[in-house]
Amino acid sequence: MEIYTIDKPEQLQMLRRIADPVQDIDSNIAQLAQDMVHTMIKGNGIGLAGPQVGRLLRIFTIKPGNAEPLVFINPEIIATSEELSLYDEGCLSIPGQYGEVKRPAAVQIHAWNTKGRPFTMEVDQLMATVIQHELDHLNGVLFLDHLKKGKKNKILKHFSVKPADYPEIA
Ligand code: NI
Repeated sequence: MEIYTIDKPEQLQMLRRIADPVQDIDSNIAQLAQDMVHTMIKGNGIGLAGPQVGRLLRIFTIKPGNAEPLVFINPEIIATSEELSLYDEGCLSIPGQYGEVKRPAAVQIHAWNTKGRPFTMEVDQLMATVIQHELDHLNGVLFLDHLKKGKKNKILKHFSVKPADYPEIA
């Protein structure tokens, strides 16, 4: 699958859209999840969301360390810690650029797996950040949007995106 990047205007538009809930967790969704896992691993990513491969659906995959990849369908964060943590975040859609983002250090997330079974997970440290970063993608939010304006514009400039051409969330 092609990974959408912010340097291509039509792909950036897609990355700024709000994804739709998955209606039926069927074999097509299971196949999509499998393709996304392969694409994530091939790209050396630790997370990948539907809009990043041009699928405007509420699904993302993560790779927690050496453990098996996980798939989250229609995910919702149901609790967050007051404690925050800071990570230097990157994104397969913003290759080679990084920025420090502060987010809740631990979250509880509810989602469905590819077999259509609901599950709840509690995660902290890097996985908490990855999950929040991926969930952001489903709402058209990129890690850039958490940075100070100057840093954000510097990264946009790196990809020849004028701040005025950075799309609103739609
Ligand atoms: Ni990302």
